[in-house]
Amino acid sequence: MSNIIQVTNLSKTYQSRGKAVTAVSNLTFSVNQGELFGLFGPNGAGKSTLVRMLTTLLAPTRGTAVVNNFDVVRQEMQVRASIGLVTAEERSFYGRLTARQNLQFYAAMQNVPRAQIPKRIAEVLELFDLSHKADAAAQSLSTGQKQRLNMARALIHNPPILFLDEPTKSMDVQTSDFVKALIRNELVNRQGKTVVFISHELYEMENFCDRVIILANGLIQAIGTPAELGAKLPRRALFRLVVEGDPDQLAQSWQNLDGVETIAEVSRGATQTTFDVALVDERVWFEVVKVIEVGNGRLESYHRADDESLRRIVAHFSGGEFTAKDAENAKKNK
Ligand SMILES: Nc1ncnc2c1ncn2[C@@H]1O[C@H](COP(=O)(O)OP(=O)(O)O)[C@@H](O)[C@H]1O
Ligand SMILES: [Mg+2]
Repeated sequence: MSNIIQVTNLSKTYQSRGKAVTAVSNLTFSVNQGELFGLFGPNGAGKSTLVRMLTTLLAPTRGTAVVNNFDVVRQEMQVRASIGLVTAEERSFYGRLTARQNLQFYAAMQNVPRAQIPKRIAEVLELFDLSHKADAAAQSLSTGQKQRLNMARALIHNPPILFLDEPTKSMDVQTSDFVKALIRNELVNRQGKTVVFISHELYEMENFCDRVIILANGLIQAIGTPAELGAKLPRRALFRLVVEGDPDQLAQSWQNLDGVETIAEVSRGATQTTFDVALVDERVWFEVVKVIEVGNGRLESYHRADDESLRRIVAHFSGGEFTAKDAENAKKNK
């Protein structure tokens, strides 16, 4: 069984105040066993709808999905036993119970055999570096610890498949790095689990996923390894430059040049500003420099930073919609 998830002609249409909204439309794809599979796309693309169908929370309008060899409609219980789900929104703990007591509750809900529960709880607490908090009330944990406990909860029954719907959305950088390293090294590489990782933010997602699927407007825009998708992108040149001069005025003038694709301010200091400018062709660089001179600015330094990044791949395949917001997020995170 190498296709651990098989989706065939899957569609979902919501009825909302008498109006039909098709959130995902006729999706067909599969996920291989042991794969770290990224599901990306802008807000409203249909990512959560797809995941809710694959995790039996929402009935498909048309088509089928088979998860761990079980049909999500006809074998709901078996599918649930096969998966763990983490979403960014949920608040899932009894604050006055301890971390361990919360996990005992979820273990019982997931029919973990009684005799195995203490050992399994010790394992997941250890994995998420929470052993020292086992007997602390859930409400006394820090935000990052609660987020780790939530992941521990999703794995309590040791499912072969884990769905993570924007798990890193509200995480601080340390928690997010910790969780991503754990997913890659421990859950996927060592334990052989299959992980479906959903995100609309790609900052620091490089070299994380084995394959990615890009969704926009409820349709599959692209699927493949990051390298395969990167190879399909048009060539262009990216420069990182440090300038002195009025940054807003410079950005405005560059925007007006033919052949400038995007301009992102990376950081602003007292006298110097760092920009990333993406050009359709390296010959446009000459024009970019001329704008600085004309504006009485000074080019302090620059280097080529050509970029086949995931961010660029997703922006390209989801119709560019994605670029501005993601650049903003990247800036915020620096
Ligand atoms: N319960 C619902 N009723 C009606 N429309 C919905 C519902 N949930 C989601 N949608 C719509 O379906 C589309 C996809 O939403 P969603 O799956 O949440 O996307 P994503 O997770 O990629 O942001 C959006 O247009 C959204 O407004
Ligand atoms: Mg969503």
